[in-house]
Amino acid sequence: MDSDRPPLADHLLSPTGGLVYHLRALRHRHGLWAPFHRAAAGWLAGWQPLRRELVIVGPNAGYALPAGILTRFERVTALEPDPLARWLLAQRADAGRLGFSRLDCLATRDGLARLASAHPAAAILFSNVLGQVAAPADDWRTLLARHLSGHAWASYHDVISTAARPKPGGEPAIITNDRDLETTLARFWPGGTIELNDHETFRLASDRPHHYAVWQIARRRWHLVEWADNAGPPPDQAQTST
Ligand SMILES: C[S@@+](CC[C@H](N)C(=O)[O-])C[C@H]1O[C@@H](n2cnc3c(N)ncnc32)[C@H](O)[C@@H]1O
Repeated sequence: MDSDRPPLADHLLSPTGGLVYHLRALRHRHGLWAPFHRAAAGWLAGWQPLRRELVIVGPNAGYALPAGILTRFERVTALEPDPLARWLLAQRADAGRLGFSRLDCLATRDGLARLASAHPAAAILFSNVLGQVAAPADDWRTLLARHLSGHAWASYHDVISTAARPKPGGEPAIITNDRDLETTLARFWPGGTIELNDHETFRLASDRPHHYAVWQIARRRWHLVEWADNAGPPPDQAQTST
């Protein structure tokens, strides 16, 4: 890692995770969060990047990662600033090949380029972090296209969050190539205007179809989560690690 770049600093109290997230996970992971975790497990099962190495950015304790996923790779590197999350992740039964990196790939405009050069042959999973951390330049779609188009990567991330209740009995998860956010929102929320936070992460994989699911994170709070992926070059043409 470049010595002139600040490393990923420990954060136990953070708006994107921290102790509050662990407490929420304790309370809701087997209840309110379970339908979304099933959708995420389906996305991850369908993601077969055919790489030996996996880098996970923002895994937290792996609450949304299905059991066994870490054993699909010969080497797994996690970038996670929360020390308690790192400890819990390392306790998982499938964490035998897990290591940690202190690279902060989200803080600077060249962060994703540094991630790509540190892990040239890896598949990269952004684990619900790109909608939480503001892009340091341009927007995440532009930065991903600029620095990671030669990598196999995938991301699930918040697109919007709202206190408005979605349609009852709506689809648990869908795949669409909608070009505008309003059309996608109308699939999940009843018509009319809703108050929302836009996380500026709609269609991160540009022209490819994207997957969506609603995550009820608390009694009166819902997120629309997008799954985006980029296949990258075939494995035999992916760069090899030095
Ligand atoms: C909303 S939580 C998602 C946790 C987990 N992946 C999940 O799906 O339940 C966002 C995670 O990103 C982590 N994070 C925040 N800034 C980060 C950064 N610069 N690099 C890597 N991870 C970061 C937080 O510590 C937190 O664990």
